[in-house]
Amino acid sequence: MSEKPIFIQHANELITVSGGSEKPLTKEEMNHLEIINDGAAWLEDGIIKAVGTTEELQVKFSNRLDEAMIIDATGKIVLPGLIDPHTHIVYAGSRENEFNMRLNGATYMEIMNNGGGIHATTSRTREASHEELLSESKKRLNSFLKHGVTTIEAKSGYGLDWETEKKQLEVAKRLNDEHVIDVVSTFMGAHAVPANYKENPDEFVRIVTKEMIPEVAKGNLAEFNDVFCERGVFTPEQSRRILEAGKKYDLIPKIHADEIEPYEGAELAAEVGAISADHLLRASDNGIKKMAEKGVIGVLLPGTAFFLMADSARGRKMIDEGVPVALSTDCNPGSSPTTSLPFIMNLACMKMGMTPAEAITACTINAAHAINRGKEIGSLEVGKKADVVILNVPNYMQLQYHYGMNHTDTVIKSGKIVVEKGQLS
Ligand code: NIG
Ligand code: FE
Repeated sequence: MSEKPIFIQHANELITVSGGSEKPLTKEEMNHLEIINDGAAWLEDGIIKAVGTTEELQVKFSNRLDEAMIIDATGKIVLPGLIDPHTHIVYAGSRENEFNMRLNGATYMEIMNNGGGIHATTSRTREASHEELLSESKKRLNSFLKHGVTTIEAKSGYGLDWETEKKQLEVAKRLNDEHVIDVVSTFMGAHAVPANYKENPDEFVRIVTKEMIPEVAKGNLAEFNDVFCERGVFTPEQSRRILEAGKKYDLIPKIHADEIEPYEGAELAAEVGAISADHLLRASDNGIKKMAEKGVIGVLLPGTAFFLMADSARGRKMIDEGVPVALSTDCNPGSSPTTSLPFIMNLACMKMGMTPAEAITACTINAAHAINRGKEIGSLEVGKKADVVILNVPNYMQLQYHYGMNHTDTVIKSGKIVVEKGQLS
């Protein structure tokens, strides 16, 4: 049985973020949201059928208003469902002990090099059953949904052996099937060098490139291939090998670049034709320039900088130089245990000099492009998926002004109401 059409009307601001379906928005384009006052949208069969003023749509659908579910958005704003293009949600356990250690002066890399960090979560994830991982990850997805997020990317990388990497990717697939949020998968077998390969990291790179990547492709388990390119983890040369190996199997490159130290990760992203380079806290001027030239999306994660007590990426400079910028939580148990993408938008404004409008573009259409979904989601345009969030603020600037809060009122996923009055329905 098909769902009733949904008619949203009288939105104070209906923010379409239109015009960027073909390619991500850059420079001044990121600051132009395309706002319809007293806005309305007609959603039917899971897609957006019409967008306009309330008056226009009331006329257009005058003979069908009776059959629709009507949502009055008076005093509220309407946005495309938010998109998080970089998460590590499939894991077991938590690491508040390390948080405490860091507050007492230990660094993220010290903890990792002493067997904690990613290695600690890897041990817990190896032990966890498929069902445990599934139910823990579903809780995180529910929390994302309550924050207005309708699509996320999820990475493996807490296995570092094929059995567990596969388990994570299979869980992500089931999450995509069973949860209303769309989950797009990335293989990240090269998230850390496992302890037993510490003396011979190139052998682990061989296993990732020659054994794991072909299996990922054979099982159709991921669309993207990511690597933690960082001093003490994978070198730029090893990272290049890993990303090039993935390309042979149609896995699109992504990269954790220049997070802790400058390491020419941004440059590498441009050279291998990565769809995105993520983190970029310490990206060089030259790396930023090369990313802009090649149209590599900068996925910025100001929550990670905040939680690691580090300086944020140079978001303002990247936008001004022409890098298409997206934002993400980086949701993971070590460097950013949050599901609040709205808080990340606040941080983008406060810590990276982005405008409230740019932050919205970065969490909608540009985030869609970072996961190769620019044509399907990320804006309120006719023909796109009916993924919509209604927020309890009268204008979009208040989203950033009333910071650290969740203003989500209603979430519609593929034309179905899934959050009402801020609660899962
Ligand atoms: O994106 N930097 C590498 N990976 C994650 C953190 C993973 C973890 O600490 O568990 C990140 O920050
Ligand atoms: Fe990450």
